Amino acid sequence: MTFNPTANGSSSLVSPDISAMPPQSGAPLKLGVMASGSGSNFEAIAQAIADRTLNAQINVLLYNNPGAKAAARADRWGIPAVLLNHREFASREALDEAIVETLQQHEVEWVIMAGWMRIVTPVLINAFPRRMLNIHPSLLPSFKGNRAVEQALTAGVKITGCTVHLVVPEVDSGGIIMQAAVPVLPDDTLETLHDRIHIQEHRIFPQAIAVAASQGSD
Ligand code: GAR
Repeated sequence: MTFNPTANGSSSLVSPDISAMPPQSGAPLKLGVMASGSGSNFEAIAQAIADRTLNAQINVLLYNNPGAKAAARADRWGIPAVLLNHREFASREALDEAIVETLQQHEVEWVIMAGWMRIVTPVLINAFPRRMLNIHPSLLPSFKGNRAVEQALTAGVKITGCTVHLVVPEVDSGGIIMQAAVPVLPDDTLETLHDRIHIQEHRIFPQAIAVAASQGSD
């Protein structure tokens, strides 16, 4: 486990230990990242690849909301961004079929849901068995579903955090790869708490991708 005091006097705890990760060997992982909004996690992964702390490449960014900031970030990184607007599809399955097709066209091996705010179906999950990861802004299994940060604040918990997990058909329920704990401070607002959770998400997501890949997809 890693215990890290942070500048504002709070602290975070990450498990498994990311300070003792063995270097990744072999060919870079070919990632497809899916994002709905800001894309700060997408960018953290791109940065980790640039910094050589993650041996991977991002072959494509998929986004579902026109104007999503994630698309502009992809542009700056020279990563192809493909808009699949869910409003233009008759069903979740029809959207997921288009997603699978796009990911396969870009030769993606691992699918990374980085702030993808749509429920995904077995059409997508079964195309990438045990090779899909999601990040969620709570310590699962607490506070599944929408507005996880708000749920934690309302519940009055004193510690929350973020989780990277495998994607299975039941929402926010797949095997947990990595978690970081984040204390809830007495004067926290939704924004301040989510900002501190984001900092930990950016730390653990690239590492969790490496851990998941090292565990294989069997
Ligand atoms: C992240 O906090 C992520 O955990 C959350 O959306 C945010 C996306 O931020 N995901 C979910 O709530 C999924 N249920 P980003 O666009 O800046 O990466």
